[in-house]
This record gives sequence, structure tokens and C-alpha cells, in this order.
Amino acid sequence: MERLRRLRATDAIRAMVRENHVRADELIYPLFVREGTGEPVPVPSMPGVFQYAVDGLDGIIDSIVECGVRAVLLFGVPSKKDEVGSGAYAEDGVVPCAIRAIKARCPDLLVIADVCLCEYTSHGHCGLVDGGRVLNDETLPLLARSAVCYAKAGADIVAPSDMMDGRVAAIRAALDEAGFKDVAIMSYSAKFASAYYGPFRDAAHSAPQFGDRRTYQMDPANGREALREVAADVREGADFIIAKPAIAYLDVLKAISGATDLPIVAYNVSGEYSMVKAAAANGWIDERRVVMENLVGMKRAGAKMIITYHALDAARWIAEEG
Ligand code: PBG
Ligand code: ZN
Repeated sequence: MERLRRLRATDAIRAMVRENHVRADELIYPLFVREGTGEPVPVPSMPGVFQYAVDGLDGIIDSIVECGVRAVLLFGVPSKKDEVGSGAYAEDGVVPCAIRAIKARCPDLLVIADVCLCEYTSHGHCGLVDGGRVLNDETLPLLARSAVCYAKAGADIVAPSDMMDGRVAAIRAALDEAGFKDVAIMSYSAKFASAYYGPFRDAAHSAPQFGDRRTYQMDPANGREALREVAADVREGADFIIAKPAIAYLDVLKAISGATDLPIVAYNVSGEYSMVKAAAANGWIDERRVVMENLVGMKRAGAKMIITYHALDAARWIAEEG
């Protein structure tokens, strides 16, 4: 008889043969930063997640560092929006101000700035809109301008999440030209038009005001196409590849990890987080075990890093396990 149970007999032997681990320094914590001042505002559809005012970031930054998480992903929640999303590339916009505040508090914390227009446009789309259509090429200079603006403020990495074609090349060229050769690009390469982004759009006030994002984000039915998106971003100069969402797309993560040597990032998105939190609040699942099982599943599928709203809890649980 083949005795596979031999390698499962004790804690020590299970630890020794364990193939994948979730580490705190591979987790990235998303942060919503709002314009204005005052206390953190809870996001109703994401228990435990808050929008922070720029002047109220110190507490959360200290907690992040304390539990061993070393990177944040910033999203801005501006007080004003317009047709062209000018808040995304304003030098005194909410994200550049947040970057400066975070770097002043903790220069070693890696700051990743999400680059997109949807939080800043009155129509809520990720690019410029004309006659109900989302324009590709006209959007590129604005994304590039946003990336340079965040680099100037001190961002280490920019993360374009808009899904316009050619944006990685446009951002790379603009960063290089402005002297930011060492600012890296973490590209949302395989980003699907997903219902799992619902709670995020509450948190970031970024729901499209008409239509949906299916003319730019990927069709959930397509796996092979993700490899074309990745190949294009690699050619254009991406330094990291994000696949998103994570749990319903583990096959995509696996396929991407076989197709590129770039570090791969899984984005464990808002809807995935909220479903776990809701079931746990009802006592239907064991939150800690389900979260860690989801995260290690992403590692098994090929993710090197994970962007997750569970990052601080997970980091504390990992530290407890030693
Ligand atoms: C903005 C953006 C979205 C997310 C990350 N960047 C929302 C969207 O595309 O509508 C989703 C993140 C999440 O659900 O946690 N383009
Ligand atoms: Zn967007």
C-alpha cells in the first residue's frame, strides 16, 4: 500500500514537507484615503475597512508596520470629481498628499499607488468618455501624468488598474522621461469585469454611472486571453503582474505563473473579503482558517505576493504560529 499518511503524522513532519507558506512581508494592504480631516469612516460593506483622512493615517501606518506588513496600495477618495478625472493627477490631490504623509511617518514602508481615473471621474469610468464610449488612446497621457505625479510625491511603485491598451508603455516612458527610472510598474494585467468589486466601489465611490466596464476589463469566461494581456504588459515594461480577482480565477494565476518569470501578485478583492467576513460574522465559518486557506491557495496557484484586506489579521496570525 502507498502510505501517504506517513508524511502527515505530526506537526513537525507536516511543517517539514509543507510546500507553500504565507508570509507577512509578501502581503500588501490596500488603504482608502479620503480628502478632508477627521476620524476614519467605516465602509459598511467591508467590516474592518475604513477610509482614512490624510491627516489621520499615522495610527494605521504604525499598526501596519508593527505586524510586519511592508507595503500598502493606495486608493484616493476625492471630495470633487469631474469629466476628466483631474483629481487623479493634481499635485495637491489626495493620493500625493497621502504618499508624502506616509513617507514622512515611515520611509521604509513600500508605497504602491493605484493609477486609474474611476475614483476621480464624474461618470465613474476608468478613462475619458465620449458619447458613451470609453476612449483608449486619449486616456493614456492622463494615466501617465498620474503615475508621474505619484512618483514625484514619493511612491515606490505605480499600479495601473484601468485596463486601457498600451498604458504600461505610456507610463514607463513618462516615468523615465521625468527621471523616475527606478519607480516600478505593478500592472493589473489580467483584470476581469467582476461582480466581486462591488464593495470596493462603495469604499472608493467609483461605480460607473452608466453601463459597465466590460469594454475594457476582461470577460470572466476567458482564461487564454489573460496570457495575451500578460505578454503585452511584459513587452511594455511591467515589473510585476497582477491577476484579479483571485479565488474564482486561480486557474488564471496558475497559467500566468507558467508563462512569465515576473513576480506575480494575486488581488484578493473586496467581494471575496466581504463574503468571508459576512459568513464569519454569522458563525458559519472559522474566519481565521478560511482566510489562511484562501491565501495559501493563491500561493499554491503561483502568486508571490497577495494584495488583501485581511493582511493585518493574517500577519498577526502568522506571527502567532511562529
Ligand atoms: C479601479 C479599481 C477597482 C479595484 C481596484 N482598482 C475597481 C474596479 O475596477 O471597478 C477593485 C478592488 C477590489 O474589489 O477590492 N479601477
Ligand atoms: Zn478604474
